[in-house]
Amino acid sequence: MAEFLIKGGRKLKGEIEVHGAKNAALKALASSLLFSSPITVKNLPWIEDVFRMKELLEDIGVRISKAGERGLKLDARDLSGAGFRKDIARLLRASVVLTGPLLAREKKVIFPHPGGDVIGKRPIDIFLEGFRAFGAKIRARGDSYEVSAGKLKGADFTFKMISVTATETLMMAAVLAKGRTILRNAALEPEIESLANFLNKSGARIKGAGTPTIEIAGRNGKLLRGGGAFEIIPDRIDAGSFLILGAALGERIKIKKCNPSHLVALIFLLESAGVKIKSGPDWLLVSRPGKLTSVDAKTREYPGFATDLQAPFTILMTQAGGQAMIFETVFEGRLNYIEELNRMGAKITPCDPHRILVYGPTALRGREIEAPDIRAGLAFIIAALVAKGESRIKNIYQIDRGYERIEERLQKLGADIERV
Ligand code: EPU
Repeated sequence: MAEFLIKGGRKLKGEIEVHGAKNAALKALASSLLFSSPITVKNLPWIEDVFRMKELLEDIGVRISKAGERGLKLDARDLSGAGFRKDIARLLRASVVLTGPLLAREKKVIFPHPGGDVIGKRPIDIFLEGFRAFGAKIRARGDSYEVSAGKLKGADFTFKMISVTATETLMMAAVLAKGRTILRNAALEPEIESLANFLNKSGARIKGAGTPTIEIAGRNGKLLRGGGAFEIIPDRIDAGSFLILGAALGERIKIKKCNPSHLVALIFLLESAGVKIKSGPDWLLVSRPGKLTSVDAKTREYPGFATDLQAPFTILMTQAGGQAMIFETVFEGRLNYIEELNRMGAKITPCDPHRILVYGPTALRGREIEAPDIRAGLAFIIAALVAKGESRIKNIYQIDRGYERIEERLQKLGADIERV
């Protein structure tokens, strides 16, 4: 099994390019199910989750071929089934977004409880409530679900909690439903807006994506056609992770091909901690300040401070002077990595399942650590680069799920990291 071997303590310098957003790419691929003609998705990150989504789609009959350096062509004209491969769906939370378009198209979908990061309970009750509102019947058998509907009927549905993938799933289902759908208390993530923009170019009528109320005029089963290529937007979590890395170790790091307007909350927190950041339309420039000051941070749905950046930010706070309260409000299991950090020399005290106190600055020491999920895995890379001595990071499949060849990109900045 591959591992990352990292020798810490080096300053980093240079330029790094941001890839297409994982959480836009997975939904873009899923959206192929809404089409009666092939679609092309461009600027894809070549990450494990994208490969798994491709396998899931191929298994239900979508024909997929390479289209240019970072593109895929997906042809979902003839589907061969409405059941997912369980072994893959259990690895990937995003598998659940296939349920919306498949149900709308095939009148039935059979799927296991989706897997993915172990960062909390991650139920799917909101998806099921949405399907029921569209007139579907649900049968749960063990850890699998069978959802069926003669014809999906548009509905006025309020999300009891803001959910990114539930918003995307129901929005896609509503495109093929009969009549008008209104989704209230919808998630606002830019990935949702980009999905809606693409579908609208192909004949869908979705209004308000990116706001709390999304209105969709259903097509009564008529599939979408054409629409040109889906260009994946830059990954704001990729960019934000590099911004934090730059704040911890950068002599001068330029982050290119990003969208700084998607990172406003993180930029505000970093500037409050004393980090100097310059930005242009598609770049950011960051260096480690002489002195970092602790700041409290609370995760929230977009446009708030992203939960996916919480673990990397906590690493930065171990290097800042003072005491920072980190409050994780989105997932209940997303602070589990702190024990490993304390073993590296951090001084972090849990307050309750959602809050920790980080005391800094502390000197971190290299260690052997295991990546628990994508984002904590990346945070451990940052911790190991900051630490004195050598670290070994195991279970790096988790990191490869979300970050394409991270070691090669970091080596270009001068990091001593190897895949062994
Ligand atoms: N929730 C429910 N019931 C549901 C759905 C969600 O209670 O039916 C709860 C969740 O347990 C959580 C909260 O609602 O406490 C919000 O979760 P949400 O559904 O928004 O998360 P998600 O859609 O499963 C996506 C991203 C995550 C990202 C979150 C929050 C994808 C594939 N995943 O997850 O990304 O952390 O939104 O922004 O889009 C990652 O990329 O590493 C990652 C975990």
